Amino acid sequence: MNRRTFLKSVPALAMLASAETSFSADVNTTAAGAAQQITAGDVIKLSKPDLKKGTATMEALSKRKSDRNYSDKKLTLQQLSEVLWAADGVNRPDGKRTAPTAIFMYAVDIYAVLPEGVYLYSVAKHELTLVVKGDFRKDTTTQEYPQDFVYITPLNLVYVLNFTKNWQDTAVNKNRDRWVAVELGCIAQNVQLYCVSEGLGSVIRGLIDENKFSKVIKVKPEQVLLAQTVGYLK
Ligand SMILES: Cc1cc2nc3c(=O)[nH]c(=O)nc-3n(C[C@H](O)[C@H](O)[C@H](O)COP(=O)(O)O)c2cc1C
Repeated sequence: MNRRTFLKSVPALAMLASAETSFSADVNTTAAGAAQQITAGDVIKLSKPDLKKGTATMEALSKRKSDRNYSDKKLTLQQLSEVLWAADGVNRPDGKRTAPTAIFMYAVDIYAVLPEGVYLYSVAKHELTLVVKGDFRKDTTTQEYPQDFVYITPLNLVYVLNFTKNWQDTAVNKNRDRWVAVELGCIAQNVQLYCVSEGLGSVIRGLIDENKFSKVIKVKPEQVLLAQTVGYLK
């Protein structure tokens, strides 16, 4: 597909994403999952984010930091839902998301590593789908430099390159790595700011065992990009 044909197809892609989307920014706020615990079945239906709450942007920026002193306190369903939505959820009726992307690459999949299993975030459906049952939190850190908090926190996110679209677009091919890095950085910062606002801690982690974790979710090691821990602090 050349650049012109590709660009023509973009509105169609956006319409498709929109049609599949279970909610967008015009929905009312709700705190239905606020007190609800997470039931880790094959699918975890996520709640709508509460769009009206939160710390002011400037205050959140002033408090953003990396945290490494976590407790094992569980997140509520609402918090899990909001972390993922903040990360890269759909925020407009046309299917576009909280994080920007270069020419609709949407190249980053988010895996939620819970104590009960590893789940893939379906952005359009705003739900988590079970990929593999079991506790794989330890596979999101490295043996050489293990970070022990990973074993006790209720949520580790792992960001994975999803570049299966195989576009023949020369601009994408030439700039792919830089553009993916920017998209990923925006997602991770969205999570950090949400965590500040929600009174949670977070840390981006580049030290992840790509070889081990890629086997767990059956992708190539080079697709495993980054991890991020989220949880209550001690
Ligand atoms: C790409 C990247 C990879 C990182 N990897 C790790 C990591 O593996 N483990 C860790 O504890 N912190 C990691 N960090 C967090 C940095 O150590 C942290 O951002 C830095 O010390 C500045 O501290 P601050 O975030 O509190 O401002 C990483 C940060 C980035 C941007």
